[in-house]
Amino acid sequence: MSIDVLNAYAGIGGNRHLWPSDWNVTAVEIDERVAAEYARRYPNDTVIVGDAHAYVLERAHRFDATWASPPCPSHSRLAKVVASRYGRELQPDPRLWEEIAHLRELGGRYVVENVHVYYEPPIAPDVVTPRHWYWTSNPPLMLTAVHGTNILRPDTRAEDYATAYGLPPLERGTVPDIRKAMRNAVVPAEGLEIAAAAFAGF
Ligand SMILES: C[S@@+](CC[C@H](N)C(=O)[O-])C[C@H]1O[C@@H](n2cnc3c(N)ncnc32)[C@H](O)[C@@H]1O
Repeated sequence: MSIDVLNAYAGIGGNRHLWPSDWNVTAVEIDERVAAEYARRYPNDTVIVGDAHAYVLERAHRFDATWASPPCPSHSRLAKVVASRYGRELQPDPRLWEEIAHLRELGGRYVVENVHVYYEPPIAPDVVTPRHWYWTSNPPLMLTAVHGTNILRPDTRAEDYATAYGLPPLERGTVPDIRKAMRNAVVPAEGLEIAAAAFAGF
């Protein structure tokens, strides 16, 4: 069935790659070149270049369902280790928690995805996979598609991520950092499974 889905912090759309073709997707991405690559991949989606945090807070209620993938660097264990090494404090970005709280309060269907955070989370995740934590309106009873743990090494190439995740590769020069865009991507099978459970019931 056709539903209106907000895909916030869209990246190159790894999470969205296997979504049904009759979902009407609006994607919000702040980086113009990443947004252009997303638009090339998903020409039927509406793509907005802008701030997804404001968009989620102001407009998520207009959609049937929301997926949000806020940036992870201020929450990740690795970033914490690196910051400590250089004697720096890492301040977790509170916008992650504001978005989860807002989507919960709206009472609609949602998924928020991030890394395993390095501190006590103010809101416990509903689904834990090897790479990600998910906060969702309706967790799947059982996850069959869980991938992507073993290849996250410093020497992993963009094309290795593409092969492992089952995503079309990124041409050089399309986005500012092809390795980062690929590494950021949710494994499509996991993106479908989590979204299908969370957005079910229409
Ligand atoms: C974790 S990645 C998204 C991965 C994506 N869900 C996928 O599966 O391919 C986060 C994305 O958010 C974008 N971003 C960061 N801050 C943003 C903001 N304030 N508004 C919109 N997009 C933002 C980054 O450029 C990056 O592409």
